Parts: sequence; structure tokens; C-alpha cells
Amino acid sequence: VTSAGADADGTVLLTGAAGRIGTMLRERLPALGWGLRGFDRTPVDDGDPLPMVVGDLTDSAALDAACAGVAAVVHLAGQPTEAPWPVIREANIEGTFQLFEAARRAGVARVVYASSNHAVGFTPRPPAGELAADVAPRPDTLYGVSKVFGEALGRYYVDRYGLAVACLRIGNCAPEPSPESAADARVWLSPNDVAGLVDACLHAPDLRFAILWGVSANAGRWWSLREAEALGFRATDGADAEPAGPAQPGDDMVGRAFTTPAYGIEEIGAPRS
Ligand SMILES: NC(=O)c1ccc[n+]([C@@H]2O[C@H](COP(=O)([O-])OP(=O)(O)OC[C@H]3O[C@@H](n4cnc5c(N)ncnc54)[C@H](O)[C@@H]3O)[C@@H](O)[C@H]2O)c1
Repeated sequence: VTSAGADADGTVLLTGAAGRIGTMLRERLPALGWGLRGFDRTPVDDGDPLPMVVGDLTDSAALDAACAGVAAVVHLAGQPTEAPWPVIREANIEGTFQLFEAARRAGVARVVYASSNHAVGFTPRPPAGELAADVAPRPDTLYGVSKVFGEALGRYYVDRYGLAVACLRIGNCAPEPSPESAADARVWLSPNDVAGLVDACLHAPDLRFAILWGVSANAGRWWSLREAEALGFRATDGADAEPAGPAQPGDDMVGRAFTTPAYGIEEIGAPRS
């Protein structure tokens, strides 16, 4: 296992290939020189002839087939928002562990992990300046807790097994910035920029372990791009105009609405199992 930059001729496994960010990356990474294989429990149904392994993250045999011979994994598959604990536990705790184990068994050199701003959602906006990307865990939801777990697991595989791991604390990755919330528009990550950020993480020659904000160069941004730029990322997009309207509860926190009482365990429902 080497921590050198992934070989541009090597295949990259994209877990969650059928999802929203998976689709953005399927449409962009090949033009940046990456050969892709997909993994998802849902087949890609938009005509993309992507080689795929269809299976669940909890199926280690399916993950072994998916990881065989790949240079790197971009791990997007999972539960992408708050949900009752059994859902989070299966997809994001057990599933992420099984993914890293399959990567280790296959000798994959590098994993780019889709973490989330919600790993640190209860972090308030600093009075001045930008917030560093590697601010300490402060999850706003069980979903955020699961992303802290994924980051810690990544660190473990770096230190014990020599993988290289980049964790992206993604803001709001969508085709356009939010038309409804200024706070959400400030944390927009464009489709081109998520591809550029993943490309930088796949190439970076000195990567061992890094935590980066996944955010475009938005006018109102207060999350630092220093760490991502140090790995070679240059944002090409950014939200200029912000929607007008009254401030919303949570606007001054990293996690925004997820920090409000509506996202409590009882409020999300059926937490026990
Ligand atoms: N979209 C955002 O703004 C955003 C923000 C922060 C973090 N993220 C993270 O990025 C990743 C991708 O997000 P997205 O918005 O594309 O979500 P998405 O729900 O559109 O895609 C997730 C994909 O994972 C697959 N999946 C879920 N559980 C699975 C399992 N157990 N086994 C196999 N496949 C499974 C789904 O079928 C889906 O295609 C997620 O890990 C999410 O937490 C997204």
C-alpha cells in the first residue's frame, strides 16, 4: 500500500454511484482522466454504461468484488441525512466499516470519504475570520455522529494500515445554490467543484489524512478553503447573490436547521431497535 497519488490510469470505485453526488461525479470524473466502476444497491438507470457492482454496503462479498483492482475509492454510499438510529447504524456505521475493510483487503491505496458539515454542526460561526476545516467533532444529529465515526475510522486505517484518506465535510452539494436560505447558499458546493475537489484528493501526492470543507467560493463563505487548496483544489464556482429573508434558527451554526429541536431523536422518530 502506498500513499502516493492514485494512478490516473487506475480505476476509481464510486460507491453511491446512483445517487445525487454520484451522478455529478459520473458525469465529470471521466473527463478528468479517471476510469470509474460503480457500487450501489440501486442500479444506475440513466443509460450510463458504467461498470457496476450492485449490492449493499453490508455485503462484504459484493464489496470485495467492487474493490478488486481499484486504485482508490470515493465513498458516497449511505444514508445522506438524519434518520432513525437503525437506518444510520446499518448504512453509515456498519456499511462504512465494511467498505474500509474491503478496501484494506484489496490493497486500495486511497479513500475519499464523503463526510458532512453535520459532523461539526453545533460549531458556532466564529466572531471573525474563517472556520478551519479540521475543527473538532461537534455533531448535530445521529447522522453527524455517524460521519464523525467515518472520519475516525479513516484516521485509524491511515495510522494502522497506511491508507491515504481525505474526509470531505460537504456543505450543500446541489446543481444551484439554495434559492430559499442565505445560510444554505453560503455553504453551496457546485457539481463542478465537487468533481474538482475529489480529483484533487485523488491526485494529491502527499495525502495521508486530511479533513477539508466541501464548499465552493461563495461570496458569504466562512468555511476555510485553505486546507483544500493546500491539496491542489481551486474552486471554479461560487454563489454571489443570497436570497433575501429573515434569519432562520441555526443560521449562525455550521449545521444550520439540523441544530434546531426539529432534528432531535424523538422528533425524527422510531429511534430504538
Ligand atoms: N448532497 C449533499 O449536499 C451532501 C452533504 C453532506 C454530505 N453528503 C454525503 O455525500 C454522500 C452522497 O450524498 P447524496 O446527496 O448523493 O445522497 P443520495 O442519497 O442521493 O446517494 C446515496 C446513494 O447511496 C446508496 N446507498 C444508500 N445506502 C446504501 C447501502 N446500504 N448499500 C449500498 N448503497 C447504498 C443509495 O442507493 C444512493 O444511490 C452521502 O454519504 C452523504 O451523507 C452529501
